Amino acid sequence: MNLSVQIGKLTLQNPVTVASGTFGYGVEYAQLLDLNQLGAVVVKGIRLEPVRGNPTPRTCEVTSGMINAIGLQGPGVDGFIKKYWPFLKTLKVPTIINIWGTTVEEYAEVAQRFDALGGVGALEVNVSCPNIKEGGGQFGTDCKLLNQVVAACRKATTLPLITKMSPNVVSIAPYAKAAEDAGSDALAVTNSYPAMAIDIETRRPKIANVTGGLTGPCIKPIAIKLVWEAAKAVKIPIIGMGGIQNAADAIEFMMAGASAVAVGTANFYEPQTALQVIAGIREFMQQRGIKDVRKIVGSVEVGK
Ligand SMILES: Cc1cc2nc3c(=O)[nH]c(=O)nc-3n(C[C@H](O)[C@H](O)[C@H](O)COP(=O)(O)O)c2cc1C
Repeated sequence: MNLSVQIGKLTLQNPVTVASGTFGYGVEYAQLLDLNQLGAVVVKGIRLEPVRGNPTPRTCEVTSGMINAIGLQGPGVDGFIKKYWPFLKTLKVPTIINIWGTTVEEYAEVAQRFDALGGVGALEVNVSCPNIKEGGGQFGTDCKLLNQVVAACRKATTLPLITKMSPNVVSIAPYAKAAEDAGSDALAVTNSYPAMAIDIETRRPKIANVTGGLTGPCIKPIAIKLVWEAAKAVKIPIIGMGGIQNAADAIEFMMAGASAVAVGTANFYEPQTALQVIAGIREFMQQRGIKDVRKIVGSVEVGK
């Protein structure tokens, strides 16, 4: 059976990755599962300089999901290279680095720095974080800015580029197209949904940032629809995510048009989820005589 998939020039041994920000920098999970069995390790968002992130509380549970407003805390490019890269570069599977900036130029500089590092699998360009005032979100909800950011990164690196899309748009198709036209090799669909929760005893928001990003099983059907719509709009591969807990969820994303998937929030309560998803996809294929996982991609039958 073939489980390998292609993201630009990057080959993944199987279609199952982890979602940025839910898997630290890989090393935190190294004792909990065999990282070398994953399709790829995807790390938390990095900008040029270190970022302290938002005040606490930064996370809360909601029905079938969670809200977070971490605020893209991170060590910056130099801190990442010093602290985390020595471990990540020993892995047999590719590392995908999630990058962001507050200006087009910063995105490009971060992309260039990681290009120069050597050995990075791909860059995931985060234009969709709802939890920071500058950068992130606004790039992903303005087609022109989105195109500029991706084009600038494209100029700065030959690494495969994956654009991490915002769900916070009326229709994802023009944004997907803008990223593809600017030279993105793939899309990651989707980031979290802006959301809010209130403690009715204290009358205070449950998150210090007041609002945050909603993730987990509660967003899955919305994310599936976005993947389906994005897949119809572009030719480049899509990495689907949003509430994946098991192989059936992952297969649903693939049938909607995702070539690969990422496990996010589920990592927090069951760190082995991604491995269970891989095993489950294999079993699904075996039971149905499917020899190539790519046969599942986009196989939803609509209007028949
Ligand atoms: C705590 C937390 C931190 C996140 N940090 C990032 C990040 O740094 N960059 C990014 O592009 N997405 C980030 N995300 C979004 C996830 O990568 C993913 O798109 C989203 O959680 C949907 O998948 P899920 O429902 O399986 O969690 C974060 C999500 C969570 C829950």
